Amino acid sequence: MLSVMDPESPNCPNCGAPLVVPMGETEVPCEYCSSLLRFVPGAEELEVVAPLRVSDLRADADGQWPSPFDFGGKPCLVIRTENGDIKAFSALCTHTDCTVKFRPDKNDIFCSCHAGIYDTNGQNVSGPPPRPLQAFKVVVRGKPGEEEITVSRG
Ligand code: FES
Repeated sequence: MLSVMDPESPNCPNCGAPLVVPMGETEVPCEYCSSLLRFVPGAEELEVVAPLRVSDLRADADGQWPSPFDFGGKPCLVIRTENGDIKAFSALCTHTDCTVKFRPDKNDIFCSCHAGIYDTNGQNVSGPPPRPLQAFKVVVRGKPGEEEITVSRG
Protein backbone atom coordinates (compact mmCIF):
# COMPACT_ATOMS: atom_id res chain seq x y z
CA MET A 1 0.00 0.00 0.00
CA LEU A 2 1.19 3.50 -0.63
CA SER A 3 0.18 6.68 1.08
CA VAL A 4 1.31 10.19 1.43
CA MET A 5 2.49 11.85 4.52
CA ASP A 6 2.31 15.38 5.74
CA PRO A 7 5.88 16.72 5.84
CA GLU A 8 4.92 18.81 8.87
CA SER A 9 3.80 15.75 10.80
CA PRO A 10 6.11 12.87 9.98
CA ASN A 11 3.96 9.96 11.05
CA CYS A 12 2.79 7.16 8.82
CA PRO A 13 -0.81 7.96 7.78
CA ASN A 14 -1.64 4.26 7.79
CA CYS A 15 -0.26 3.01 11.10
CA GLY A 16 0.70 6.23 12.89
CA ALA A 17 4.30 5.21 13.48
CA PRO A 18 6.85 8.02 13.62
CA LEU A 19 8.97 8.24 10.52
CA VAL A 20 12.53 9.28 9.95
CA VAL A 21 12.88 10.73 6.50
CA PRO A 22 16.35 11.22 5.09
CA MET A 23 16.98 14.67 3.70
CA GLY A 24 16.16 14.93 0.03
CA GLU A 25 14.15 11.71 -0.13
CA THR A 26 10.74 11.82 -1.76
CA GLU A 27 9.67 8.24 -1.14
CA VAL A 28 10.28 6.09 1.90
CA PRO A 29 8.78 2.85 3.25
CA CYS A 30 7.24 2.84 6.71
CA GLU A 31 9.37 0.49 8.83
CA TYR A 32 6.31 -0.71 10.72
CA CYS A 33 3.55 -1.37 8.19
CA SER A 34 5.58 -1.28 4.96
CA SER A 35 3.39 1.43 3.42
CA LEU A 36 5.23 3.34 0.75
CA LEU A 37 5.08 7.03 1.58
CA ARG A 38 5.52 9.75 -0.97
CA PHE A 39 6.16 13.39 -0.27
CA VAL A 40 4.61 15.89 -2.57
CA PRO A 41 5.82 19.47 -2.66
CA GLY A 42 3.02 21.86 -1.78
CA ALA A 43 1.07 22.06 1.42
CA GLU A 44 -2.30 20.63 0.44
CA GLU A 45 -1.27 18.12 -2.16
CA LEU A 46 -1.73 14.47 -1.48
CA GLU A 47 -0.68 11.69 -3.80
CA VAL A 48 -1.19 8.01 -3.18
CA VAL A 49 -0.37 4.96 -5.25
CA ALA A 50 -3.45 2.84 -4.83
CA PRO A 51 -2.96 -0.65 -3.39
CA LEU A 52 -4.54 -2.05 -6.51
CA ARG A 53 -3.54 -2.07 -10.15
CA VAL A 54 -5.64 -1.52 -13.23
CA SER A 55 -5.88 -5.29 -13.61
CA ASP A 56 -7.50 -5.47 -10.15
CA LEU A 57 -10.37 -3.21 -11.23
CA ARG A 58 -13.00 -5.86 -11.72
CA ALA A 59 -15.82 -7.38 -9.74
CA ASP A 60 -15.14 -10.58 -7.84
CA ALA A 61 -17.16 -13.77 -8.19
CA ASP A 62 -19.87 -12.24 -5.98
CA GLY A 63 -20.06 -9.10 -8.09
CA GLN A 64 -18.28 -7.00 -5.45
CA TRP A 65 -15.95 -4.22 -6.56
CA PRO A 66 -12.59 -3.72 -4.78
CA SER A 67 -13.06 -1.87 -1.50
CA PRO A 68 -12.02 1.76 -1.06
CA PHE A 69 -8.48 2.31 0.16
CA ASP A 70 -7.11 4.81 2.63
CA PHE A 71 -6.40 8.18 1.07
CA GLY A 72 -5.03 10.51 3.70
CA GLY A 73 -7.30 9.04 6.36
CA LYS A 74 -10.46 8.88 4.24
CA PRO A 75 -11.74 6.15 1.92
CA CYS A 76 -11.12 6.50 -1.79
CA LEU A 77 -13.10 4.52 -4.35
CA VAL A 78 -11.49 3.72 -7.71
CA ILE A 79 -13.80 2.66 -10.52
CA ARG A 80 -13.52 1.65 -14.15
CA THR A 81 -16.49 2.76 -16.20
CA GLU A 82 -18.16 0.84 -19.01
CA ASN A 83 -16.02 2.66 -21.56
CA GLY A 84 -12.79 1.93 -19.67
CA ASP A 85 -12.20 5.26 -17.95
CA ILE A 86 -10.58 4.99 -14.52
CA LYS A 87 -11.88 7.46 -11.96
CA ALA A 88 -11.40 8.06 -8.26
CA PHE A 89 -13.77 9.62 -5.76
CA SER A 90 -14.12 10.11 -2.07
CA ALA A 91 -16.11 7.09 -0.93
CA LEU A 92 -17.94 9.20 1.63
CA CYS A 93 -21.54 9.85 0.67
CA THR A 94 -22.37 13.56 0.66
CA HIS A 95 -25.56 12.89 2.61
CA THR A 96 -24.31 11.64 5.99
CA ASP A 97 -20.90 10.13 5.20
CA CYS A 98 -21.77 6.47 4.71
CA THR A 99 -19.33 4.63 2.48
CA VAL A 100 -20.51 4.26 -1.10
CA LYS A 101 -19.92 1.27 -3.42
CA PHE A 102 -19.44 0.96 -7.14
CA ARG A 103 -22.00 -1.31 -8.80
CA PRO A 104 -20.42 -2.35 -12.11
CA ASP A 105 -23.54 -4.25 -13.18
CA LYS A 106 -25.56 -1.02 -12.93
CA ASN A 107 -22.68 1.32 -13.82
CA ASP A 108 -23.41 3.54 -10.84
CA ILE A 109 -22.18 4.32 -7.35
CA PHE A 110 -24.58 3.37 -4.61
CA CYS A 111 -25.01 4.35 -0.99
CA SER A 112 -26.94 1.68 0.86
CA CYS A 113 -27.68 3.85 3.90
CA HIS A 114 -30.55 5.72 2.23
CA ALA A 115 -30.40 4.41 -1.35
CA GLY A 116 -28.47 7.38 -2.72
CA ILE A 117 -27.17 6.98 -6.27
CA TYR A 118 -24.35 8.73 -8.12
CA ASP A 119 -23.39 8.30 -11.74
CA THR A 120 -19.87 7.35 -12.82
CA ASN A 121 -18.92 11.03 -12.91
CA GLY A 122 -19.74 11.20 -9.20
CA GLN A 123 -22.85 13.30 -9.83
CA ASN A 124 -25.68 12.74 -7.38
CA VAL A 125 -28.60 11.52 -9.48
CA SER A 126 -31.07 9.94 -7.08
CA GLY A 127 -31.96 9.87 -3.40
CA PRO A 128 -30.91 12.22 -0.62
CA PRO A 129 -27.24 13.03 -1.46
CA PRO A 130 -27.14 16.83 -1.87
CA ARG A 131 -23.86 17.12 -3.76
CA PRO A 132 -21.57 15.17 -6.10
CA LEU A 133 -18.83 12.99 -4.67
CA GLN A 134 -15.45 14.66 -4.33
CA ALA A 135 -13.44 13.65 -7.39
CA PHE A 136 -9.70 13.03 -7.42
CA LYS A 137 -7.14 13.08 -10.18
CA VAL A 138 -6.03 9.69 -11.52
CA VAL A 139 -2.79 8.91 -13.32
CA VAL A 140 -2.07 5.44 -14.70
CA ARG A 141 1.56 4.44 -15.26
CA GLY A 142 3.45 1.27 -16.04
CA LYS A 143 3.66 -1.63 -18.41
CA PRO A 144 0.44 -2.87 -19.99
CA GLY A 145 -1.13 -5.35 -17.63
CA GLU A 146 0.80 -4.03 -14.62
CA GLU A 147 -0.31 -0.41 -14.58
CA GLU A 148 -0.15 1.35 -11.25
CA ILE A 149 -2.88 3.82 -10.29
CA THR A 150 -1.89 7.06 -8.62
CA VAL A 151 -4.58 9.20 -7.04
CA SER A 152 -4.01 12.80 -6.07
CA ARG A 153 -5.84 15.91 -5.09
CA GLY A 154 -4.78 19.46 -5.41
S1 FES B 1 -25.73 8.57 3.73
FE1 FES B 1 -25.73 8.08 1.63
S2 FES B 1 -27.77 8.31 1.03
FE2 FES B 1 -27.76 8.84 3.12
